[in-house]
Amino acid sequence: MRPSQPANFVSWFRAAAPWIHAFRGKTFVVAFGGELVASGAVESVVQDINLLTSLGIRVVIVCGSRPQIDAALAARGLTSTFSHGVRITPSNVMDCVKEAVGRLRIEFEQRFSFGLPNTPMAQSEGVRLMGGSLITARPVGVIDGIDFQFAGTVRDVDAQTIHHVLDNGDIVCLTPIGYSPTGEAFNLSMEDVAASVAVALDAEKLIFMIDADGLPPLPGPKTKRTRAHEISRELSAAEAELLYKSAAQSTDISGMSPDTMRALDATVRASKGGVARTHLIPRAVDGALLMELFSYSGTGSMITEAGLETLREATIDDVGGVLKLIEPLEADGTLVRRGREKLEAEISQFCVLEHDNVIAGCAALYPFGKEGMAEMACFVVDPTYQGRNYGEQLLARIETLARNARVKRLFVLTTRTAHWFIEHGFVEGSLDELPEARQKLYNFQRQSKIFLKKI
Ligand SMILES: CC(C)(COP(=O)(O)OP(=O)(O)OC[C@H]1O[C@@H](n2cnc3c(N)ncnc32)[C@H](O)[C@@H]1OP(=O)(O)O)[C@@H](O)C(=O)NCCC(=O)NCCS
Repeated sequence: MRPSQPANFVSWFRAAAPWIHAFRGKTFVVAFGGELVASGAVESVVQDINLLTSLGIRVVIVCGSRPQIDAALAARGLTSTFSHGVRITPSNVMDCVKEAVGRLRIEFEQRFSFGLPNTPMAQSEGVRLMGGSLITARPVGVIDGIDFQFAGTVRDVDAQTIHHVLDNGDIVCLTPIGYSPTGEAFNLSMEDVAASVAVALDAEKLIFMIDADGLPPLPGPKTKRTRAHEISRELSAAEAELLYKSAAQSTDISGMSPDTMRALDATVRASKGGVARTHLIPRAVDGALLMELFSYSGTGSMITEAGLETLREATIDDVGGVLKLIEPLEADGTLVRRGREKLEAEISQFCVLEHDNVIAGCAALYPFGKEGMAEMACFVVDPTYQGRNYGEQLLARIETLARNARVKRLFVLTTRTAHWFIEHGFVEGSLDELPEARQKLYNFQRQSKIFLKKI
């Protein structure tokens, strides 16, 4: 989008408001391999992370260093071998790891210090990049007769100190090195550090920037959710685990690089450890982080521990979200216009369906006690989420609420959605079947059709 399209900019910025509210004060762990730094794309990622911090998001960066370690080894004429996907790390290799990781850290500190005027980093001098001996490690040890020497795994995370730094408004930058109580340094995997830190911090999100667009669809027949895209947009933790196991066992799921596989394995671990949302996003796409976090469609794959949807009674805090949802339909005449004041007064009669903290649908129930009837009104699902049975879920909720209120017949007035209601058990009726009070309010100009359902 170019600045010459201010309308797009304004509507995009406004659309981002719910996420900005939802993310403030939340902890995100953003992890990427050293390839990002080597590719030069790191500059825009640093800018985007800086932006997240300025929105009140608590950010922990975990940066891998495999290519930098390989380069340091090559400069010394050394090579290293891997077993079980882990670098066997004798002391001369560990020296190269320290050198590569040290350089990388300095590079990051340098980039985050940049704050010249007229750049996205301007005014960010107050934000500091902090790190240190925050990861305790233990050696991988000997597996199948192979001694991995200074290759380690995460034993503990100093969550208290990390929270303290984040409370201060600073960014925590972790590299894949951990220290043992015996005073040794160990070479860790970036994915292990990222997953362990996200779990220890009880992070809201763990985001891996990977070398693919996202995760491939699950094996088996393509579903409605995956047909439109080559990648899975949303997976449950159980589905992600199934995908990992299938990919590990067969070559059927092609296109998953070792990089993606390691990240997927770590996301499954993090999900099991209680991290509610894990994202795998393409590091090759400029701005992928912002698109994934602040747009409906996102840009990569998201793994959720629980379902993303919450169906609940509305509160006064939902007025803004409901208004945003219904205003376009009021404007095109599908719904009768109701102002903010009326909505505020009636909000307790609404239920809303949230998708990932954004209101995706709503419906209201207006009982007419004397006649044992109730009207379902203001029944809307955001076009982005239509066709996912959200409408059906909302109707089921309204029917339950109506039954609890001893309602025997539910009715709707509609101009354009007749068939949806017929397909959901409603039968066309006439005006004289409505409660008297509602008959008086019938708008003859709109000529809405009346549908009723026994519940
Ligand atoms: C009606 C509405 C709430 C349904 O929401 P939804 O979440 O898409 O509904 P579901 O996923 O449960 O059902 C989707 C099915 O309904 C069908 N459908 C959606 N709108 C329809 C309509 N106006 N007429 C007939 N069928 C419709 C879809 O084609 C889909 O069928 P398919 O699965 O066979 O393709 C949604 O389309 C909407 O918000 N419409 C605009 C507002 C409106 O008209 N509200 C009613 C005013 S009383």
